[in-house]
Amino acid sequence: MLTDTHCHVQLREYDRDRDEVLRRALESGVDTLICVGYDASSNQRAQRLTGDRVNGPGRPRLYATAGLHPHDAKDFSPAFLDGVRALAAAGRIVAVGECGLDFYRNLSTPEQQRLAFAAQIELAAELDLPLVVHDREAHESVAELLERHGARSGVMHCFSGDWEFARRCLDLGFYLSIAGPVTYRNAEALRDVAARAPADRLVVETDCPFLTPHPFRGKRNEPALVRLVAEEVARIRKEDPEAFAAQAAANARALFRLPD
Ligand code: NI
Repeated sequence: MLTDTHCHVQLREYDRDRDEVLRRALESGVDTLICVGYDASSNQRAQRLTGDRVNGPGRPRLYATAGLHPHDAKDFSPAFLDGVRALAAAGRIVAVGECGLDFYRNLSTPEQQRLAFAAQIELAAELDLPLVVHDREAHESVAELLERHGARSGVMHCFSGDWEFARRCLDLGFYLSIAGPVTYRNAEALRDVAARAPADRLVVETDCPFLTPHPFRGKRNEPALVRLVAEEVARIRKEDPEAFAAQAAANARALFRLPD
């Protein structure tokens, strides 16, 4: 069975056919989904999706996270942190994030991004929860902030650095999450990372509805397609696809401390 360690099935893109999307995930052997929040409204929608109604028999197991994306760092406030704290206290989230830095789109200023990220790194340490880190064209600053603010564990979501940066993240105790771009033509550096990473530190994700793997690129992504990502990584590593999937699922359980 497979785990999609980063999906956004709470988004409106799935309101029309969410039940079918979840059913297709399970039919493809994707039995566990981490539903990642990134602002107040998506955090709340993730919560609604992880109740008992959804986690019944014949459904994949869904777990939620809560955080503030670097795009929305301008909306950061102490009250936002209190909201995440309350969810953690109620046992409703398995990680803090996604949070991080995005110096590609810069939808919030770099200073706003640094402030919100640093606060969430410290919150994750306080709550003893892993971090879900978004890093786009900000490798150096992300690593610096993780080191300076006492990050303990987490995952580099949709990893996009080279092997040198991967080593630095691994040394920090982080997992590397491989997404759909590993199936794209211009992904030599990512394939190198996927080949060299230790087996017990790799996980896979869709980041759906974004980053749809080849050959479905251009269409809406969904958790069932994490199978294509896992198969590509297994091929690169010359491992048996089922064995790789089982190892990646075990890694996800360790990362998010999920029940067996
Ligand atoms: Ni995401």
